[in-house]
Amino acid sequence: MMSCLALLLLLLLSSLAFCFVAAMNHGVWTNGKPLIGVNTWCDDDICGLFDRCPASLIMEMADGLVNTGMRDVGASLIELDDCWSDTSRDANGNLQPDPTLFPNGLKPVIDYVHSKGLKFGLYLCIGTKTCRKGRPGSFGHYDKDAKWLESLGVDLIKVDNCNRPGGYTEQQLYCNFSHYLNQSSYPIYFSACEWGVGNIEEWGPQCVDSWRVQMDHLCFYWLPTKAAGKGFGQGTWQIIKYIETLPPGKWGSRNFIGDPDFLMTLFKPTMTFIQSRTEFSFWSLWSSPLVMATRDYNISQEKAAIVLNKAVIAIDQDDLVIPGWKAYNNSDNSGQIWIKPLAAHGGNSAAVLFWNRLVFSTTNVSFTINWRDTLGFNVDTDDTDATLLVFDLWSSDPNHGVEVSANQTYSVSDVVPEDVKLLKVICPNGPCLKGWWN
Ligand code: GLA
Repeated sequence: MMSCLALLLLLLLSSLAFCFVAAMNHGVWTNGKPLIGVNTWCDDDICGLFDRCPASLIMEMADGLVNTGMRDVGASLIELDDCWSDTSRDANGNLQPDPTLFPNGLKPVIDYVHSKGLKFGLYLCIGTKTCRKGRPGSFGHYDKDAKWLESLGVDLIKVDNCNRPGGYTEQQLYCNFSHYLNQSSYPIYFSACEWGVGNIEEWGPQCVDSWRVQMDHLCFYWLPTKAAGKGFGQGTWQIIKYIETLPPGKWGSRNFIGDPDFLMTLFKPTMTFIQSRTEFSFWSLWSSPLVMATRDYNISQEKAAIVLNKAVIAIDQDDLVIPGWKAYNNSDNSGQIWIKPLAAHGGNSAAVLFWNRLVFSTTNVSFTINWRDTLGFNVDTDDTDATLLVFDLWSSDPNHGVEVSANQTYSVSDVVPEDVKLLKVICPNGPCLKGWWN
């Protein structure tokens, strides 16, 4: 009897300890919400092509987040992607940066990032080698690497899935690394870049803070791959098409953020203003990380208009942290409407996105909807005077709401190809979309 009690106590204590340890990873400085920031991968090194990410670039990026005002609208992360490391570990078996890029090591760079009130993220790989040029991976060194990251003050790791040795599942390796990361004296965010394979939807919430739902977002709006969804990498349009296949509203959540990969906002010369705005709108509608892989310093006016739009960022950062879903498809597939329930305004609001999905086209798309029948809005048909308050988030005055009848049709005309119209709607009688807010 005594031994049974002792066993029970032990089990209870160990599960409490597990809860405590597991909770360390989660929330962190993001409060469980999507990250905002910049990543080096498609900056000066053009997605790894030139293999260049020196210390000075990281510092310029940190300055950029401050000087552009991005930090003021919620950006907090400088993420150093693949290409930072030397080709081998040091004599003690620790990872070490490429001495030509980081002659004084990583610490001064990380300290500089911290001095700007920002967080520092570092790329690692779960396998034996990283994806680009086979730099050292973390396999067999998770414990050691976790301690090394802690000694440097790293705040986040992006962990890639290249060169994973046979005989192990993603779950085993990512959760094992997570276990060691949880032993650090401060919380380190675990951003899993394992491309949405190995049923991460099921085990991921216990081990990581965000998960890459598909392969790379390459720096194009339209770039089809052989396999839909999880190909070698694809354009914005193809990612939207893939996200359409995921369980509506369920593939991301607070503390387990769904990450369609970084934004290519105005990556020159491949992303236009409209394409970038569409990309930013969808990522926000999905409550996905707004981590931009294009340079933030010397930010252009047109780029600033996208990345500093507080009203759109508020959709991304909404407390419900629910990825919006497709609610309507034009019969000729030229346009779609996506919706997302919001916690804002006491839960009585939603975001609605109208998208012209035509490419290589000059045809505008118009929409006429009925709030209840087309979008499933909670509208009382008997209340003929009921109004909704509609905010056009990409207009020159996104905080100006316009009253529209809840029971009459609503039209959006002439959305140009590849563009969106993004609205926030406040509903008069409770949640706009029932069942998502209580
Ligand atoms: C993979 C990842 C990318 C990037 C590169 C670096 O392709 O999915 O996001 O980190 O590796 O090699």
